[in-house]
Amino acid sequence: MMDNKTQKYYADKAAEVSEYYNGADYGVSKYFQEIIPSGSRVLDIGAGSGRDMVRLLNYGYDAYGFDPSPEMVSAAKNAFPVLDNRYRIGKIQSEVPVFDILFDAVICSAVFMHLTDQDIELAVSVIKRYILHGGKLLLSVPLKRDDVDKNSRLPDDRLFILRSPEVYIRLFQKYGFLFLQRIDEDDSLGRSNISWSILVFVN
Ligand SMILES: C[S@@+](CC[C@H](N)C(=O)[O-])C[C@H]1O[C@@H](n2cnc3c(N)ncnc32)[C@H](O)[C@@H]1O
Repeated sequence: MMDNKTQKYYADKAAEVSEYYNGADYGVSKYFQEIIPSGSRVLDIGAGSGRDMVRLLNYGYDAYGFDPSPEMVSAAKNAFPVLDNRYRIGKIQSEVPVFDILFDAVICSAVFMHLTDQDIELAVSVIKRYILHGGKLLLSVPLKRDDVDKNSRLPDDRLFILRSPEVYIRLFQKYGFLFLQRIDEDDSLGRSNISWSILVFVN
């Protein structure tokens, strides 16, 4: 399940949030061409506004994605009709694959902090099943954020669990991923109280 309050936030704010995310300058997309071989079939998990799928398509990748928020998916399809058959509703914990094809690469940007400790391990095992052997994974996780309360909630009530990148590195290694690279970055939306770590793995 997506956390209820987090789900409500994305449902209520889909239009506004999507427009905001579409304004992000670079984030993980800055590294697509460097890390993902050209022409690859790529899956974007928790694709939100659809911004990164559109960038992938513009770079010549065969991009697909899913997100559990029907409101986010329809806002993305309205903004970018090219996503029509490429963007589905689904959550990362789903045991039933949202797509029954395998991918050369997976990206998952700013999603894991919304998952409980119970769900992250399942999420990793699901990602593993989507990626071909030798495929790349780009994972973006928060490094710092100064408005998270003691219950791991943001002021807008979304679940936001700060875990150190090492926690994710160890977890993906446990599932057989080889850790390649960590890139620490300022927030692509220009917020000074937030920074991110991009972790690159190969399956
Ligand atoms: C901060 S947004 C990031 C969106 C996009 N990846 C980006 O980088 O702009 C978080 C997204 O994660 C999605 N999400 C939340 N829980 C999820 C889950 N269990 N499985 C997949 N996506 C989830 C939300 O619906 C939302 O679109």
